[in-house]
Amino acid sequence: MARFAEYEPLRRSGSPPADLRIRDALPADVPAMAGIRATRGDCTAEQARSGFERLLGRVAAGEALALVAEARGAVLGFGCAARFTPPPGAPLHCAPAGWYLAGVVVAPAMRRRGIAAALTRARLDRLARPVYYFVNSTNRASIDLHEPFGFEELTRSFWHPDATFQGGVGILFVTPPAGRRAV
Ligand SMILES: CC(C)(COP(=O)(O)OP(=O)(O)OC[C@H]1O[C@@H](n2cnc3c(N)ncnc32)[C@H](O)[C@@H]1OP(=O)(O)O)[C@@H](O)C(=O)NCCC(=O)NCCS
Repeated sequence: MARFAEYEPLRRSGSPPADLRIRDALPADVPAMAGIRATRGDCTAEQARSGFERLLGRVAAGEALALVAEARGAVLGFGCAARFTPPPGAPLHCAPAGWYLAGVVVAPAMRRRGIAAALTRARLDRLARPVYYFVNSTNRASIDLHEPFGFEELTRSFWHPDATFQGGVGILFVTPPAGRRAV
């Protein structure tokens, strides 16, 4: 399974599952989230599990947000966000402090049904603006996913400790200033 979804702009999303619910991730969701995360092929389910356990610790401290999409009692995807504070000695082109969308993954069999869009809407509703996200320029599916929420390109020249981009350049996006409301 490829790390990023294949770019298919002409395919249109079907309807979300009728009982789709977006809710806070619980410790009991970690195995399902890790299984979905591992479908990207760049980590094992066990590595993903440790990462989510650490993330839920940050959620408890108010430093992160972890939501899951659930239907018929099954976790179909997750969307996370984390607060970033530039570390001491960060370079001048360090990304700004604030909330960053940090990872949305939907189970392959459930894609193009509006689940990632629902997870993104729910995260933005929960976070203080401005909200940032960064993406590899080659991940066109992710860029199209975020576009309807009004994100604007801020810069392609930035440093963030979690940002490494292979085969493309990183783009840092931000929600529009107050007064210009995104959808
Ligand atoms: C990217 C990903 C999260 C999208 O999840 P999804 O639930 O299928 O997305 P949605 O159905 O909510 O799509 C909403 C919009 O995003 C865009 N989009 C989503 N997947 C796309 C794709 N493969 N190609 C082109 N556009 C895409 C479209 O604009 C879509 O609207 P439309 O279907 O009306 O055209 C999913 O493919 C995935 O998990 N990929 C692997 C991980 C990844 O790349 N995550 C993002 C970076 S962390």
